[in-house]
Amino acid sequence: MCGIVGYVGSGNAREIIIDGLKKLEYRGYDSAGIAVIQQGKILLRKHVGGIANLENLIGDDPMTSGTGIGHTRWATHGAPSDINAHPHLNGDGTIAVVHNGIIENYLELREMLAQEYGVKFRSETDSEVIAHLIGVYYTGDLEEAVYQAVGRMRGAYAISVIAADEPEKIVAVRKDAPLIAGLGKGANFIASDIPALLKYVKEIYLIENNETVVLTPDSVKIYDENRNQVHRDVFHVTWDADAAEKEGYDHFMLKEIYEQPKSLYETLTRRLNEDGTIKLDGISMGREELEQFGKIYIVACGTAYHAGLVGKYVIEKLAKLPVEVDVASEFRYRDPFVDDKTLFIAISQSGETLDTLAALREAKSKGARVLSIVNVVGSSVARESDDVFYTWAGPEIAVASTKAYTTQLMCLYLIGLYMGFVRGTITREFHDQFIADLKEIPDKLKAYLKQAGMIEGLSKMLYNKEQVFFIGRGLDSSVSYEGSLKLKEISYINSSAFAAGELKHGPIALIEPGTLVIALATQDALYEKMLSNIQEVKARGAHVMSVAKEGNTAIEAQSNEVMYIPSCRDELTPLLSVAPLQLFSYYVARERGCNIDKPKNLAKSVTVE
Ligand code: M6R
Repeated sequence: MCGIVGYVGSGNAREIIIDGLKKLEYRGYDSAGIAVIQQGKILLRKHVGGIANLENLIGDDPMTSGTGIGHTRWATHGAPSDINAHPHLNGDGTIAVVHNGIIENYLELREMLAQEYGVKFRSETDSEVIAHLIGVYYTGDLEEAVYQAVGRMRGAYAISVIAADEPEKIVAVRKDAPLIAGLGKGANFIASDIPALLKYVKEIYLIENNETVVLTPDSVKIYDENRNQVHRDVFHVTWDADAAEKEGYDHFMLKEIYEQPKSLYETLTRRLNEDGTIKLDGISMGREELEQFGKIYIVACGTAYHAGLVGKYVIEKLAKLPVEVDVASEFRYRDPFVDDKTLFIAISQSGETLDTLAALREAKSKGARVLSIVNVVGSSVARESDDVFYTWAGPEIAVASTKAYTTQLMCLYLIGLYMGFVRGTITREFHDQFIADLKEIPDKLKAYLKQAGMIEGLSKMLYNKEQVFFIGRGLDSSVSYEGSLKLKEISYINSSAFAAGELKHGPIALIEPGTLVIALATQDALYEKMLSNIQEVKARGAHVMSVAKEGNTAIEAQSNEVMYIPSCRDELTPLLSVAPLQLFSYYVARERGCNIDKPKNLAKSVTVE
């Protein structure tokens, strides 16, 4: 949610910041801006819309400065507009601030600044108060002024600040919103996320909560909340810049769909011992500990929550432990029963989703053991967990999550299998066969993705439907939720998902001639029941597009189209059946001319409640 980039050095700050902002556009893209210090003054340029609009505004303006900060915004307070865009300046334009997050007491601060200091506000944002607050405390020492201001701010935020009178300095603060510092030679960087800096640096500091960073061209100093300097180990980024590029694909989403076989292969094979058993690197849980858990909660948001729905099924089946799955924003406020016999599994691609983080903290405070499944190494969720199981998806840039979902599923299968094996609820033979079946999935998925042309054809025929229903039973119902979310978030079609057995209890009233129903029927044990549900909607005139396993051709008689996935054991179908749904959503959105990688109103990393 909002991206921050800052640079201090002898290079061209404008070029480096704009380049970094482009890599962070997935975090928010309703406006963008940059402020640099030039000849003792702050030069500000900002514009509603994407980075391209900002570039047009800057045009040939040289802005040749070595120090600056930039921002790409996802609006919270105040509509997307030039004036609400960041950076924000104090009254006399000598301090510039970019901000990611929310200042909860901004109204109180706004009133205080207006009454006591006569401050006149230009924007409707909470962020502008930070610039004025720092401005009123500033007496020639930016660190001191930022420290004073932060002492009065409540909320979750990451900020970066420059002052016209200290042209070779950036001061940044992290509180519950991501921030990293990049270590260059004669130049240093600040950013919300690694992709912004990959072209320039591979060595970074992960900034912790309540820390302040002071950057000059030659130094990066980190201070804790008591202003003591802290030592931080350097984190070496292992991915290359290409991993965060489109590499010839039209969109990141399509690239990431095609990366799934590789990501799944990595996530699986890195966790297998030579004897075929599972090594849960990052997790220290033996039989004794596993025996102690009376209950598991899986908590997450959006797509990660949908992965959790599959996780419940898998862990209950394999490890015979009761699992409850909850949406993070609900879990936190419903006073759930959690104690020291609870295992809390948080799932998050970004590791920065505030709802998930808050739920994690709630569970931890009640004594739960926290295990997280996370993609971004060193992210907040990872750092605050007792055990971390990383997905090896690589950077996921498109707002619509694809490879993160399938790798989260892979982790859940491995955790379920491991728990079942250690607890003795599955045999070695079952375990080995399951692993063998898992190993076949990356190649099966790769082969399946070659059929994308067929799905592209279907999307050309069906892209103008305004209402779509996804139905399925058992694991298929979990995947239906994910398929429906994918379609609505990138194509803006009103889609809903239902457990197929629930149709007759209400939703079937909405089926009309021509309504598109996407029916998942991949579970052998539930196949016939699904055929009946499909008949029910077909009888009411629905256009039915089904997803079934190769060879299960009886479904053709009741469907307008069938998308066949490679055959595999029932438990593993989500790893394959989600692919046609991802591709269908992608091609439909493309037909409708939607902004696929940056859908309206959304952002990749949701760091506000
Ligand atoms: O980074 P996280 O996995 O915690 O994000 C959770 C959701 O915000 C995310 O999955 C969202 O639903 C995606 N846009 C779905 O494609």
